[in-house]
Amino acid sequence: MGSTGLDLIESELPKLKKELELDLVIAQAENVTSGRGCSPQDFLRLKAAGVDFCTAGNWTLWRKDIFSLLEDPEQPIIRPANYREGAAGLKYKYLKSPFGKVLFISLLGQTVGRSSKLKLDNPLTAIDQILDAERNIVKSAAIVNFHGDYSSEKIVIGQYLDGRVSAVIGDHWHVPTADARVLPKGTAHITDVGMVGTLNSSLGVKTDIIVKRWRDGLSVSNQLDSDKPWQFNGLIFEVDPKTGKALSATSLNRIYE
Ligand SMILES: [Fe+2]
Repeated sequence: MGSTGLDLIESELPKLKKELELDLVIAQAENVTSGRGCSPQDFLRLKAAGVDFCTAGNWTLWRKDIFSLLEDPEQPIIRPANYREGAAGLKYKYLKSPFGKVLFISLLGQTVGRSSKLKLDNPLTAIDQILDAERNIVKSAAIVNFHGDYSSEKIVIGQYLDGRVSAVIGDHWHVPTADARVLPKGTAHITDVGMVGTLNSSLGVKTDIIVKRWRDGLSVSNQLDSDKPWQFNGLIFEVDPKTGKALSATSLNRIYE
């Protein structure tokens, strides 16, 4: 979330990769640049810090300068798959890893903040179509990111895809849930993974700005908070590349004073 999140990724991710022996790092990049989308420059900073693939949310298509990267199958960043035909960018991409090909898909839930009026394709039929189209491609893992507001949608899609993909990772709340686990048929799941950003804020925005809007009815713009402590949330999961099934899933929640 914002420059604080990016600064924390740059300072801590290289250490966490070593400490936790991470083979592949996935980051939600939709709030990186001033909370709105991800600029090509910030995408390069994430990659340089050790991020292997960037997923998408309701702010991803807000910045037009990222469109050419979203359309390039070699660039590890996607837009949500269930926008209607004609949206910029590819619906899904593969990453060539040392363990084989990894399929990445982001989906938007059907109620997501200011995007709730958008006409989206149903995320369940959208993912079914992608998995069916790609069923003959040999892959070591398939990772689904579900970006939504409703906990029910975020839980149900995990169970809907259990055993069909390696992981279903919910986000958009910026608040981590305490339910990381491997579902019965081998899919790692968390309802919401949380965020990397400031702890004593409103999802990364200065709390007094939100109070002015909420209590006083003032029309004030968001200002991102940068005060410490900072938080680094994530989901650590292990996949067997031979089967594509998840073996373990645990939350990562670190505080930096
Ligand atoms: Fe979002």
